Amino acid sequence: MSASPPGHTKPAIVTRLRDAGCVFAEDEARLLISAARTPGDLAAMVDRRAAGQPLEHVLGWAEFCGLRIAVDPGVFIPRRRTEFLVQQAADLARRDADLARREAGPARTGDTGPARPGPVVVVDLCCGSGAVGAALAAAVNPVELHAADIDPAAVRCARRNVAAVGGQVYQGDLYAPLPARLRGRVDILAANVPYVPTGAVGLLPPEARVHEPRVALDGGADGLDVLRRVTAAAPRWLAPGGHLLVEASEGQAPQAAEAMARRRLVPRVARSSALNTTVVIGTRPSRRSRSSAAP
Ligand SMILES: C[S@@+](CC[C@H](N)C(=O)[O-])C[C@H]1O[C@@H](n2cnc3c(N)ncnc32)[C@H](O)[C@@H]1O
Repeated sequence: MSASPPGHTKPAIVTRLRDAGCVFAEDEARLLISAARTPGDLAAMVDRRAAGQPLEHVLGWAEFCGLRIAVDPGVFIPRRRTEFLVQQAADLARRDADLARREAGPARTGDTGPARPGPVVVVDLCCGSGAVGAALAAAVNPVELHAADIDPAAVRCARRNVAAVGGQVYQGDLYAPLPARLRGRVDILAANVPYVPTGAVGLLPPEARVHEPRVALDGGADGLDVLRRVTAAAPRWLAPGGHLLVEASEGQAPQAAEAMARRRLVPRVARSSALNTTVVIGTRPSRRSRSSAAP
């Protein structure tokens, strides 16, 4: 952007943002200046940010797993802590794909041995902007990516992020809009569902409480309503050996793990102190693990 109108020089913007309570005013001013196409654009963006809109909604994107994810106003902003769920999912997908390749053996002309493994089938359920699915598609190759959300604004936004990596996005309640051909075929089911207990939604910072939709935050009385519904149906969609991954608070993790065990998924809790987050992973036993567990 070229000339700045009076009051929209960098120092003036920093002061305005600082007065509005923005802790990282210098960084934000730099990002706003580089994103604005015209001086009028910059003025409008600074006004929106000073009025309390989240920086990501003003810029139109959020950084997630090193990617620039488009985020429209009214759509949940992907959180840095959710990068841990992506790391866990990507590690499992790569490990399973390596194992399948080793079992299939080297490809030979006229090979009649076990079929070569296909792409990793990933479903990003409750996808919001589609950040989790897009990041998994960038980390694991090849993938067949499907994403779904109940909120039309999220679906519109996810289409931009997920189509860019060759995935499909559907709108509807949890699994309802997914194609039936995915039943029993999903290798990675990533579901960063809403998990804030209803009584705690009012305690969230205004950037979430006011600017993100309630459906993206409120997980019911104990925060686990959506997670339990996702878990209950997961065994029907997971491939043998496939994994469900959900984010939860540290206090919710034992109940989430118990819900998975009740559905015959093998639960494991992974914790990142660096990102201060917890991911609960439920694995559908594979034929291999069932036969190796047999006496
Ligand atoms: C916490 S946000 C997470 C969004 C995204 N996965 C992320 O990590 O950035 C939860 C998302 O779940 C969606 N959601 C809530 N209830 C749903 C339901 N019953 N079916 C499908 N999506 C739902 C919301 O619209 C919201 O986009």
